[in-house]
Order: sequence, then C-alpha cells, then structure tokens
Amino acid sequence: MAQQPDVLLPNTVPPTPDLPFLSQEPRNGEPSCAWENFKRPRLRKFPQAASTLQFQGFIGAGVDGLVLGAKTGDNAAVAVKIFYYSKPCNDHRYWAFQRECCNSAVLEMIRIATQRSGADSGAPLYLLPTPRRITDAVRNLRAFSTEYSHKYRANPPPNFEPFDYSHLQLNECLGWTQLDGGAVRSLLHGWRLGISEFCSTPAVDAASWYFAIVYRFVPDALLEDSVVLSHMNFFYRAGFDPVPFKADNWRGPGILVDLSDLVLPFESDWQECIYGPMVKRDGRFTLGQANRPSKRETEKDAATRHA
Ligand SMILES: Nc1ncnc2c1ncn2[C@@H]1O[C@H](COP(=O)(O)OP(=O)(O)O)[C@@H](O)[C@H]1O
Ligand SMILES: [Mg+2]
Repeated sequence: MAQQPDVLLPNTVPPTPDLPFLSQEPRNGEPSCAWENFKRPRLRKFPQAASTLQFQGFIGAGVDGLVLGAKTGDNAAVAVKIFYYSKPCNDHRYWAFQRECCNSAVLEMIRIATQRSGADSGAPLYLLPTPRRITDAVRNLRAFSTEYSHKYRANPPPNFEPFDYSHLQLNECLGWTQLDGGAVRSLLHGWRLGISEFCSTPAVDAASWYFAIVYRFVPDALLEDSVVLSHMNFFYRAGFDPVPFKADNWRGPGILVDLSDLVLPFESDWQECIYGPMVKRDGRFTLGQANRPSKRETEKDAATRHA
C-alpha cells in the first residue's frame, strides 16, 4: 500500500438504511449463531463512527469496489472496502454489497463455531465429508449453528464425521458503515485517484453516500497452494459454491479476502454442477469431480432449497 498522510472524513450522519441484510446493532461481542440467522443473515454495524477511521492509502480495486488501508480509533489496521453501487444494479447478477454483507455475517458465525471446535474442546463439528447436492450443502451449513451443532454431536446423522477446524484463518469482518460520497471523492482526489478509473458508470461518481465494509487488514505474503486448497475445501464443505480462483482475492498464505467469491446455498445462483471438492491440476485450482445429479434428484432438491 502506498503510504499517505492520514486523512479523516467529516463527521456527517447518513440516513439510516432500511435493508433486510443490515443490522443496526453495533458489532460488539459475539452474534447469536441460531440457524435462523444463517438463513436470514444480517451484518452488524462497525461500532465506531466512520469519521474516526484514519485513511492511510489505497490498497487495490476490483469489479465491486475499491479498498483503502486505514487505522481504527483504537489503532487496529483495517481494510475498508468501498462499494461502487449503493443500490442493486441491473447490469450485475447480484448486488456485491448485499452478497458480501450476507457472506460476512455467515462467516462470522462460522468462525465462532470453528474456534469452539478445537481438538481439546471435546466439541467437534459433525459434517458430511463429501457433500454433493443442495440438501447436503444446507445440512453441512446447519452444522455450524447452535441448534444443529449440538444435535449432530449428540446424534450424528449417517456418514457424518467429526472435524476440527480451529486452525482455519478467516478474514475477520468488523461490520458495515457508510461514507460521505463527496468526502471519499476528495480523499481519492488528494491521492490522484478517482472512482471513475475503476468503475465507469457515471451515477457512482455522484453518489451522496457509499456503503463500505471494514475488514481486518491481511498483509500480503506468498500464497501457499496447500493453504488455499484447504480453505477452498473448507468453504465447499460448509456448503458454499466457489467462483473461479483469482490470486488477488487471496492474501497472506491463503486467506480469502474478497467475500463476493462465495455463494451461499440459499442464493438463486448457487449451482449444483460446480459444487464439489477443489484440486490443483495443470497449475490451476479447479473442480476435482464434476457433479452430475439426475434430473429427478435436482427437482427434489429444488423443493427443499429453503429448508
Ligand atoms: N482485508 C484485506 N486486507 C488486505 N487487502 C485486502 C483486503 N480485502 C481486500 N484487499 C485487497 O484489495 C483489492 C480489492 O479487493 P476485492 O475484495 O478483491 O475487490 P473486488 O470485490 O472489487 O474484486 C484486492 O487486491 C485485495 O487483495
Ligand atoms: Mg476481487
């Protein structure tokens, strides 16, 4: 990240958004991991005023947003992802801010469940090792919820096995926030950058407010295939569909930082044909085994998608 003098945004108060995937609760302490919250995830709010973030430099940009390095009021290094689109956009299959809020809220619950599943805790998570269909994906995702983790442990369903995922490294999300549009543009201007360099829709450049998500900063390191693969296969086992591997969406030895790269099994674009364990073949991360359920299996599963 190019180091810049610290910049603070003005202390203006945005209108409170009324969106079903946003919680107005500050992200303090652990969230409830009830299954209900996996089905309707709501990301909690970054607990500090956006005006306390000290912006330090530009980290990178992609198709959904740009990421700035910052320090929080209590001096934690964070990456603030500012989304180009403040509302759903017809040109895209999904609204990135919504997808990332839902994935971050679910991964926060998963992180808590995996931390509790350490070998010494006597409380491993029970999962189906090689899920194949939508019903398997949903049952495995349930394994991280309070109700089902107890239920599966007390009485494991057929073929479920204990897993210790306490070593997992998940990108920690500190909550959503809103940033003043004019202030973001002048901040970038001071660094000789503009949103239109990254996103060409004129409306995004005139937005009054941008949604942003605050993540813990993950330093760059050499990606290790084994670490990337173990995380990819964890996400698969937890029920997510993958999107094609892109190196800059991973940092550290193999931590996924672009959380738009996962698709929850409740989403309409979750597809069984790309759901499966990942391998590295011919120098590429790819699906190990194509999934070809019968038409009857697919129809039956469609009916239970929203279990
Ligand atoms: N938590 C983080 N720590 C450090 N760098 C990050 C973090 N999150 C994202 N980045 C970097 O910022 C850049 C853009 O982020 P990304 O989430 O991939 O945006 P997009 O969804 O638009 O592709 C990437 O190069 C990524 O490595
Ligand atoms: Mg990306």
